[in-house]
Amino acid sequence: MCGIFGYIGSKRATPILIDGMRRLEYRGYDSTGIAIKDGDISIFKKVGKVSEMRSILPLNIQGTSGIGHTRWATHGGVTDANAHPHASASGDVVIVHNGIINNSRLLRASLMAQGIELKSETDSEALAHMIEIELAIDDDPEAAVRRALQKAVGTWGLCVLFKNHDLIVVARNGSPLVIGKGDGETFISSDGPTLSEFTDRVVYLEDGDIAVVTATSIKRSSLKGDSKKVEVTVLEKSWGEAELGAYEHFMLKEIHEQPDALRHCISGRLDRVRGNGRLGGLRLSPSDLAKVPHVRLIGCGTALNAAEIGQLLIEKLARIPAVTHIASEFRYNEPVINPNALHFVISQSGETADTLSAVKEIQLKGGQVHGVINVVGSTIARQCRQGVYIHSGPEQSVASTKAFSNMVAALTMFALQVGRSRSTSKERGQEIIHGLQQIPHLIEEYLENQGPIMEAVELVKNAKSVFFLGRGLSAPVAKEGALKLMEVAYIPCLAYPAGEMKHGPIALLEEGSPIIFIVPNDHVKEKTVSAIHESKARGAKIILIHEEGDDISLEGDVNIAIPKVHSLLSPLLTVVPLQLIAYHTAITLGHDVDRPRNLAKSVTVE
Ligand code: G6P
Repeated sequence: MCGIFGYIGSKRATPILIDGMRRLEYRGYDSTGIAIKDGDISIFKKVGKVSEMRSILPLNIQGTSGIGHTRWATHGGVTDANAHPHASASGDVVIVHNGIINNSRLLRASLMAQGIELKSETDSEALAHMIEIELAIDDDPEAAVRRALQKAVGTWGLCVLFKNHDLIVVARNGSPLVIGKGDGETFISSDGPTLSEFTDRVVYLEDGDIAVVTATSIKRSSLKGDSKKVEVTVLEKSWGEAELGAYEHFMLKEIHEQPDALRHCISGRLDRVRGNGRLGGLRLSPSDLAKVPHVRLIGCGTALNAAEIGQLLIEKLARIPAVTHIASEFRYNEPVINPNALHFVISQSGETADTLSAVKEIQLKGGQVHGVINVVGSTIARQCRQGVYIHSGPEQSVASTKAFSNMVAALTMFALQVGRSRSTSKERGQEIIHGLQQIPHLIEEYLENQGPIMEAVELVKNAKSVFFLGRGLSAPVAKEGALKLMEVAYIPCLAYPAGEMKHGPIALLEEGSPIIFIVPNDHVKEKTVSAIHESKARGAKIILIHEEGDDISLEGDVNIAIPKVHSLLSPLLTVVPLQLIAYHTAITLGHDVDRPRNLAKSVTVE
């Protein structure tokens, strides 16, 4: 999704902007551009990657302030003209904008009626012209941005550069923007973690904020004009490296990082003696937990699949009704909020607009919301103020892998903690803790001996569609496997609870149709075997994910064995071969696995 990076200081801005924008690339984008102030403001923009935009930059642009943008098209096609930055008529005001201006049609029409020629089809360009018109009144950049934004309806993360003023004005409303304070230099980014390469002191803006930024100062105020305190937060050192290292792709690197990511997630959060979870950030006492009437879990994409596993574990261990909701649907379905219930929102980025809207809706109706979030200090984490950080380290690949595992681990610990405050025995708790502590090692064992992944790739790579089937805890794992393959290999995939196969999807089976069955050694294994037989009888080719030593492997055409695992924790193992099948299929088909077409890592528009 769109990214913003800005700089004002004493160094050459161009290499810093390029570096910052390179760090934003993982979010997904289709065009890029920068504006550098060196006397006049020069703009360079282009459809394509940051590296392609770099190739059109003159070698000698000086300038110690500038703004850069990676665009993921919403209003207007993917063209050089629609790429950001956008300039005002005189070129004295230049903006980059994330978000959507809902009344842009009216604003554009009014500008055209005033004789202003619009050079792009975007909603954003209108803002540059409106700010210039306001600036003509009093030559006060902050006041001009304020007045212009008061006429706009929508969401923005906005950075404005002025030819005649040595400052950048930034504004935030529904689209993240973070300021990084360096020594004699200031950075701006729409993605907090990218700032950690430049400084560890950051200022989070809130919705409705405007800030005037110079090399040495930050002045914050509200859209109405009231001045606001500037609070500097020191970023925690993230344990993970955001660089590729020896790996060819981030997706593969992150699959292999799962054992360590899980160790970070569970470390210090398990009480072996009492057989209990120890998630302090939940701020819930055992008596609070004992009274919870139900739990709702909300997320999108991979986070939603993790939520479905969490839902099943909460019901199994805590004996509380739990239900999962798609974030984009939740607030429009007029949800009934019980203030005693718990609401978990699950998000890797902590910026997903649909999930954030759900949080606000629940809070508005008096409900309590806990975040299960990876990015520390992200918008959702700050909006919830309570919850669990999953500590996956930076996840760069659009297709989420290690964050999924850590979401599942965090929800498992939560289910255990609630379970212990209600019906789960100490012995059962200890057994689960022991199982969880084994998982990192078991994943390492599996990664050393991955089984015939490439045989599975051969079966799926040219398929019209691929089925993923599992039951119980493996049903959401099937969904996650299907999502991964669809995201990176662009193959239509269907995921179903295996028992539902005969109620419709079976009609699609033809001779050779590949089906991936996820069948750990749990209480529903035998039930899944029936679905395998029904599928084989109709010519399907079976790729079987099973536990090693299990004679169910006689049923598969391609058998991928995972180590033996506690039955409640099987998703943490069974998902790994599915991630590898998706990765290797995408590579075999020649796709850009880390930046799949049309997708964005962090979807900050609804
Ligand atoms: C986008 C990404 C998915 C991701 C989803 C939720 O759709 O492409 O990979 O799972 O957003 O993201 P979140 O950051 O909220 O976990």
